[in-house]
Amino acid sequence: MLNTIGVIGLGVMGSNIALNMASKGEYVAVYNYTRDLTDKLVEKMDALTINPYYEIQDFVQSLEKPRKIFLMVTAGKPIDSIIASLLPFLESGDIIMDGGNSHYQDTERRYDELRPKGIGYLGIGISGGEVGALLGPSIMPGGDRDVYDKVAPILTKIAAQVNGDPCCVYIGPRGAGHFVKMVHNGIEYADMQLIAEAYAFLRERLGLSVSEVADIFETWNQGELKSYLIEITAEILRKQDALTGLPLIDVILDKAGQKGTGKWTSIQAIDNGIPTSIITESLYARYISSLKEERVIAESILASPNMDQMHLDKTLWINYVKQALYMGKVCAYAQGFTQYKMTSELYGWDLPLKDIALIFRGGCIIRAEFLNVISEAYEAQTDLANLLISPYFAEKVTAYQEALREIVCEGMRSGVALPCLSASLTYFDSYRTGMSNANLLQAQRDYFGAHTYERNDQPGVYHTDWQ
Ligand code: 6PG
Repeated sequence: MLNTIGVIGLGVMGSNIALNMASKGEYVAVYNYTRDLTDKLVEKMDALTINPYYEIQDFVQSLEKPRKIFLMVTAGKPIDSIIASLLPFLESGDIIMDGGNSHYQDTERRYDELRPKGIGYLGIGISGGEVGALLGPSIMPGGDRDVYDKVAPILTKIAAQVNGDPCCVYIGPRGAGHFVKMVHNGIEYADMQLIAEAYAFLRERLGLSVSEVADIFETWNQGELKSYLIEITAEILRKQDALTGLPLIDVILDKAGQKGTGKWTSIQAIDNGIPTSIITESLYARYISSLKEERVIAESILASPNMDQMHLDKTLWINYVKQALYMGKVCAYAQGFTQYKMTSELYGWDLPLKDIALIFRGGCIIRAEFLNVISEAYEAQTDLANLLISPYFAEKVTAYQEALREIVCEGMRSGVALPCLSASLTYFDSYRTGMSNANLLQAQRDYFGAHTYERNDQPGVYHTDWQ
């Protein structure tokens, strides 16, 4: 019996994807560059149809044609090395899928290299962490449609299912799948940072205990903020440290790591003139967090605002935080989806924004209740310029802006840094301003550099002799 699919790279994600495929009835050939991880998976297999191979040639020859090979290998050079070692054994029509967090431009390069050889190449965004990989992730496949169609039965089967629909749709050509995953991670950074700021305000400004904040998050998770990240935040805040008995959150070092996908999102946006300030602020927040030693010194030199903390009514201000967080999230998702829209137009990808919102509802890290409404917004208007002006969200943010203003002002006044919440408000105000201050920038540019300007009352390009 030939194997129906092969998985290369048996770290936690790769092993779990292989187990997921086998649990759905596939015959899965597995291979890892080093033997140890293959052996570890073999121990876990029970009766599942997973077949280990220790030579890449044997692995390839064990697959039915056209061969379908799923890579779960560290992004970067390892992907190129594995592809190079596979090529001598592959035939035209075979398919390689990269399920890692590869940069979409690397995926496009590999696609271009493999196409003349007749090898189908799909860049597949996968979100959901270890559990998602095992039980059903959100899957974002990009590449040739006819190649996708050959693997769709397997991918849709292993994906998370929401109301009977798989969280896997064809995203678009070339690197579109990995691009969508990259921006998903940018949104993830922003979403996480917004939650962290709401937490900081509740604790630092309202003086709530960790368990009180856990209760609040748990309650919020019953309503319109319902999402995986809110849910796990409540659980995180309940966890006690076995060593000290303190809430674990209070003994975790406040230096945030990152593997680069959020940074790539910001770089791509900046390179292409796409305003994603909230996502970029969340990246900067991680960077400044990593300056821990400097921050500790600075705290002893730079005094916090010298003011008597005004008493804030807890019920009122908890509700402000809730609404501010919701509005911040809407602004962050609006930026991410704008990045999809503008890039789609730039590359002619025709990204299915409605479906992207739908496949984010299950399996992935940013799964959230309000993705249903985002999807409906794009269903009602496929060329919607910005989520903020869709009827549902326009009404929400108009109603919640007061709360966001209160929180941002109070944070500024009392010295609680709220980079993403304030970037959200600034984005909202900039976006809803029909007449901006950029006329002055244009005048300045023309004054010192004769860069010219346009007028708002008649066509043409003008230069003024300012002196
Ligand atoms: C997912 C996650 C996953 C991973 C991130 C973490 O969707 O499953 O986004 O891809 O957890 O890469 O990224 P950082 O290490 O950069 O925070």
